[in-house]
Amino acid sequence: MRYLATDTAKRISKIGLGTWQFGSREWGYGDPYAGGEARAIVRRALDLGVTLFDTAEIYGFGRSERILGEALGDDIESVFLATKILPLLPFAPVVEQRAVASANRLGARWLDLYQVHQPNPVIGDTTTMRGMHALQRVGLVGEVGVSNYSLDRWRSAEAALGGRVLSNQVRYSLVDRSPERDLLPYAEAQERVIIAYSPLAQGLLSGRYQAGTRPTNRVRGANPLFLPENLDRAGDLIGVLREVADAHAATPAQIALAWVIHSPAVTAIPGASSVEQLERNVAAADIDLTGEEYQALRAAAENFQPVTGRAALPAMARARLGR
Ligand SMILES: NC(=O)c1ccc[n+]([C@@H]2O[C@H](COP(=O)([O-])OP(=O)(O)OC[C@H]3O[C@@H](n4cnc5c(N)ncnc54)[C@H](OP(=O)(O)O)[C@@H]3O)[C@@H](O)[C@H]2O)c1
Repeated sequence: MRYLATDTAKRISKIGLGTWQFGSREWGYGDPYAGGEARAIVRRALDLGVTLFDTAEIYGFGRSERILGEALGDDIESVFLATKILPLLPFAPVVEQRAVASANRLGARWLDLYQVHQPNPVIGDTTTMRGMHALQRVGLVGEVGVSNYSLDRWRSAEAALGGRVLSNQVRYSLVDRSPERDLLPYAEAQERVIIAYSPLAQGLLSGRYQAGTRPTNRVRGANPLFLPENLDRAGDLIGVLREVADAHAATPAQIALAWVIHSPAVTAIPGASSVEQLERNVAAADIDLTGEEYQALRAAAENFQPVTGRAALPAMARARLGR
């Protein structure tokens, strides 16, 4: 495992573990996963040097936090534990009370990273950050983070906190490179961190899914990337991933992860449906892509133009009806 060069109290692994999948119905992995495999994934991640474990109060309405906390057991104090508040009414006392509730579900004495899950479109960050500041002062929260924030909003959150907002957790992968516009340069220049979520584009970049073998769960059913047309369009990108993977005796998913964590400011938090996937994802931290490979992947990514937004709506409706 490799680690970020941050000055945080605990090291942050370049590959972390995302746990939205734990106990949430929308991933459809069922009770055997929530009650068994999820725990095995966490234990194996610990063995392999993963320190960053990411969850959220909304995942499975608290189940993810409970499953993660139970699986970590006494090791919870040695990891870099990250959770998130859904900022529906993010007034300072609410933020404080919700952090306590998350820590209780996790069985944790403190949260290493407490993140605002989404920017609240109506309520600014001044009041939210007042709560965060109080949590830091009493030692319940180590670092403050945000998620899905623009650069402007990230900076105004820092101004409101009066200190660093360590990280911004954003969608970042070969199929969504928008953080490269301004978030990544900011993180690199200011020693902040980009936490890349959906780094495998929810499994698309594994190359496992084609138009005839689409995943069926609710998350991916609602993701236009998994429309048959887009799976066809992704063929060339998957082809380049396979070529690079062959050169490293690796898998396309591992190459997609190696690509996304290329910058020293990025850590990725792939989810995993099995221990085997987790092991592969962790191993991706040690793959060094050549400059040529990195650029070839970027070029293939630029050529992948999926149908998204309004243009995807008719096809989404057809796919839902099974036609
Ligand atoms: N802050 C936010 O707003 C936000 C939003 C989304 C996610 N997140 C966080 O980010 C984490 C990861 O994102 P995500 O779950 O959306 O997408 P992801 O990590 O890109 O995809 C995870 C899925 O990819 C497949 N997979 C994983 N490793 C693989 C491997 N080695 N080989 C082949 N397939 C593999 C698995 O699905 P199958 O085996 O079923 O194909 C797995 O469930 C989440 O768990 C969550 O913690 C945060």
